[in-house]
Amino acid sequence: MTPRKIIIDTDPGQDDAVAILLALASPDEIEVLGITCVAGNVPLDLTTRNARIVCELAGHRDMRIFAGCDRPLGRKLVTAEHVHGKTGLDGPDLPDPTMALQDGHAVDFIIDQLRDHAPGTITLCPLGPLTNIATALQKAPDIAKRIAKIVLMGGGCFEGGNITPAAEFNIYVDPQAADIVFKCGAPIVVMPLDVTHKALVTRARNDAFRALGTAAGVAVAEMTDFFERFDKEKYGSAGAPLHDPCVTAYLVDPDLFNGRHINVEIETQSELTMGMTVADWWRVTDRPPNATFMGDLDADGFFALLTDRIGRL
Ligand code: BDR
Ligand code: CA
Repeated sequence: MTPRKIIIDTDPGQDDAVAILLALASPDEIEVLGITCVAGNVPLDLTTRNARIVCELAGHRDMRIFAGCDRPLGRKLVTAEHVHGKTGLDGPDLPDPTMALQDGHAVDFIIDQLRDHAPGTITLCPLGPLTNIATALQKAPDIAKRIAKIVLMGGGCFEGGNITPAAEFNIYVDPQAADIVFKCGAPIVVMPLDVTHKALVTRARNDAFRALGTAAGVAVAEMTDFFERFDKEKYGSAGAPLHDPCVTAYLVDPDLFNGRHINVEIETQSELTMGMTVADWWRVTDRPPNATFMGDLDADGFFALLTDRIGRL
């Protein structure tokens, strides 16, 4: 099987880091053309730093990493140090990166890659606010038809929100961008909180990462150790939810997930529900489906895959 070409658009973040590691550990299924960074969990200077740290941890110093948008399209940047720590990657003690960022803007890289490759051959994998992807679509509307698929982490339906009662963080940070992406016409697969809150790192799952005994395995255990304190305190959950790795796990084994092809609209007007993903799960409207919205996950299968692949790094 030819590996699927992807661009990872990200704001690392410990869970973004695990998503990237999973992709880099799966070369038979995934070819990462480049990593584009956006402001989100922490400001852009830190997300570009963290993406490089993660690639160096995985032994991929040759990965192309680009800086992108440093703020949402029309709102002030909201960050999440309360979840991810001051650096965005708190937990493990990892060395400062030495690999360079690429010249050029992340948005131009996305546009150029989509134009340079045959239509329908590049999958976009956004793991943060959708600012880079929306900016690319605004700047070069022709790329929408060339995108094979957008597989993104964002939103929630029955789980509600995690940054406001109604909104999930990635969509809340840049609702305008999310609105552009959900309306762009490309096939979209959504990993909402309904799924990612089932991807919980329990003690046994964390021990399995640590027991790999490799630099990547131990770093993943230490990242989730740090990351879990927030969700345990706030939601009383059993461990850290690995939101973003759901995206890359889907590329390796889509059968781990179950969802519905439905209409999803983004709230961009009301301050009260700003950034809400209004997902027509029960198909109570005649609005046309525009996304496959996942609702369930085989959590044991997901962690078996993750542990196996992280162990290969
Ligand atoms: C999303 O927000 C970030 O904090 C995580 O990295 C993930 O992408 C979860 O709401
Ligand atoms: Ca993220």
